[in-house]
Amino acid sequence: MYENINDNFIKNSVSDIISKETLEEIKNRTKEYTALMSYYKCAMMEIETKFNVLKEQFSLEHDRNPICSVTSRLKSLISIKDKLDRRGHDFTVESIEQNINDVAGVRVICSFKQDVYNLAAALIKQDDVVLIEEKDYIKHPKENGYRSLHIIVEIPIFLSHEKRKMKVEIQLRTIAMDFWASLEHQLRYKKETVFTDEMTAELLECANISAMLDVKMDHLRHNVFSPFLSLPEDEDYTITEVDSQKEQNRNVE
Ligand code: GTP
Ligand code: MG
Repeated sequence: MYENINDNFIKNSVSDIISKETLEEIKNRTKEYTALMSYYKCAMMEIETKFNVLKEQFSLEHDRNPICSVTSRLKSLISIKDKLDRRGHDFTVESIEQNINDVAGVRVICSFKQDVYNLAAALIKQDDVVLIEEKDYIKHPKENGYRSLHIIVEIPIFLSHEKRKMKVEIQLRTIAMDFWASLEHQLRYKKETVFTDEMTAELLECANISAMLDVKMDHLRHNVFSPFLSLPEDEDYTITEVDSQKEQNRNVE
């Protein structure tokens, strides 16, 4: 009973300040956004399935598993609006599709560094996948030590009456890279604590140690699974270390 009183109260006070036309407009816009988010969700599911298929086939062929996990997330409308505001764009359905590449995000955690590149290549060469952008933070780590391979792809989703091309951001990384990124995120974004230069330098050292682990593990993988093959020339067995002094200077700027 109290709920009804409250409902009517809210309805009356809303219609006092918002016209019927505006309410109708809000209803239609909400529908548009809900549909758009659902298309992104479909695209995300397509990409997840593609990786699960690759995992199945690779496991059969090579008797080991290149993928530890595939997870996905849809960016909230609030975060989308914040990002558009920050970049000076309007908050419309068209603007979201044009300006935001990471509404749909898929994260693939791989066993070895070479798996990251093999899986990305296997996905990109599929004929319904178009590569829009690639950021290789493994070959070129961020100054704080962050490593991952980021690719933005466009794939079609097939609805009952139309085919739509949707963008998906895919982050591929090893277990070691994910370990570092997850903890760094928790530490850096703890609101009550100031993140000092010393902490930044220590985190960078951790990133370099974990990169070293990946290189050693990848070397072992090569020796265990392909002991009679010489190392392919494009396999990178050196560590791209990030200079801690450079990182400290950046923080002072
Ligand atoms: P945003 O998506 O707005 O962050 O900007 P961008 O287009 O420059 O994207 P970028 O490809 O550099 O990074 C996108 C995503 O990668 C972020 O949303 C995070 O999930 C992850 N990422 C990037 N840098 C870092 C980092 O330093 N630490 C951690 N933990 N994650 C990062
Ligand atoms: Mg992002």
